[in-house]
Amino acid sequence: MDDLKAKYLDAIGAAADEATLEDLRVQAVGKKGEISLKMRELGGMSPEERQVAGPALNALKDEITSALAAKKVALADAALDERLKLEWLDVTLPARDRRAGTVHPVSQVWEECTAIFADMGFAVAEGPQVEDDWYNFDALNIPSHHPARAEMDTFYMHRAEGDNRPPHVLRTHTSPVQIRSMQAQGAPIRVIAPGRVYRADYDQTHTPMFHQIEGLAIDRDISMANLKWVLEEFFSAYFGTSVKTRFRASHFPFTEPSAEVDIQCSWEGGTVKVGEGDDWLEVLGSGMVHPKVLSAAGVDPAVWQGFAFGMGIDRIAMLKYGIPDLRAFFDSDLRWLRHYGFSALQVPTIRGGV
Ligand code: DAH
Repeated sequence: MDDLKAKYLDAIGAAADEATLEDLRVQAVGKKGEISLKMRELGGMSPEERQVAGPALNALKDEITSALAAKKVALADAALDERLKLEWLDVTLPARDRRAGTVHPVSQVWEECTAIFADMGFAVAEGPQVEDDWYNFDALNIPSHHPARAEMDTFYMHRAEGDNRPPHVLRTHTSPVQIRSMQAQGAPIRVIAPGRVYRADYDQTHTPMFHQIEGLAIDRDISMANLKWVLEEFFSAYFGTSVKTRFRASHFPFTEPSAEVDIQCSWEGGTVKVGEGDDWLEVLGSGMVHPKVLSAAGVDPAVWQGFAFGMGIDRIAMLKYGIPDLRAFFDSDLRWLRHYGFSALQVPTIRGGV
């Protein structure tokens, strides 16, 4: 029995893998293993012999079984150690450099405008881009055969054959948001409406989709003087320098009187600088909201009055950030986006203390 014990414990100690261990188990304590066969011999022994040999064999069997189990665990631990050494991964290594995206100049300027007007008490309003022609035209005092409809290069939505209702349009300006806001909120009201607008036009300064920001302030005694102050505050904050405005008499169906507004600038070597010099640059249309427009939106023109304006976001982005070609705004050229785009962490550059 001592020989058997020594033989198997040595062999188990020397085993290099689980398959060898399994072979040893079968040889020693398997059904036909050496120790099992010895146990069978117990039956032929005298009771005295059996009393000695029985417990000794059982003890030997237990010892070998636990040696097998211990070795199995040791082999598994060694295999794991080996894997850990081979499959080592340094999770503290810095990640591979990835270029962050940039904020598009239109988004940046949109945010800047919103922040400046918010400081002056204007809330942000929104309307649909596919617009009812009543909102886009009629309610703004542009009836069916008004020449302004033709001038706007409107995109009309497709209508099913035989459908004679007025077609929906891609809104040609943000002015319909004036109507929707007044309908929803009544007066007094102070909102801006930044958004996308559409016209069938394409050259260096026109794209079929572009961005406008509409302004609307209605109360009992709002005048053109308030309009001028708001716009000068806005442009001075936006360009970070004191900016004068010039109002030129103009005509829009939805305002009376109407004015086109220029900002002061200089031209030096082909580049434009805002807030200095003797030249003027047209930047927006504006005026006192026409009584018919107030009525169309359910606001009583005998009680309420106010101003409105509409301005191109892309255009003032080009002016502030020296971007020469409007079309590049919408080309999705990564080189352009990296050059003119803004870091997401960059705070809008606006003059404080409006
Ligand atoms: N809706 C006009 C356009 O797109 C711009 C405009 C002019 C808006 C005068 C106004 C306004 O609110 O009062 O050309």
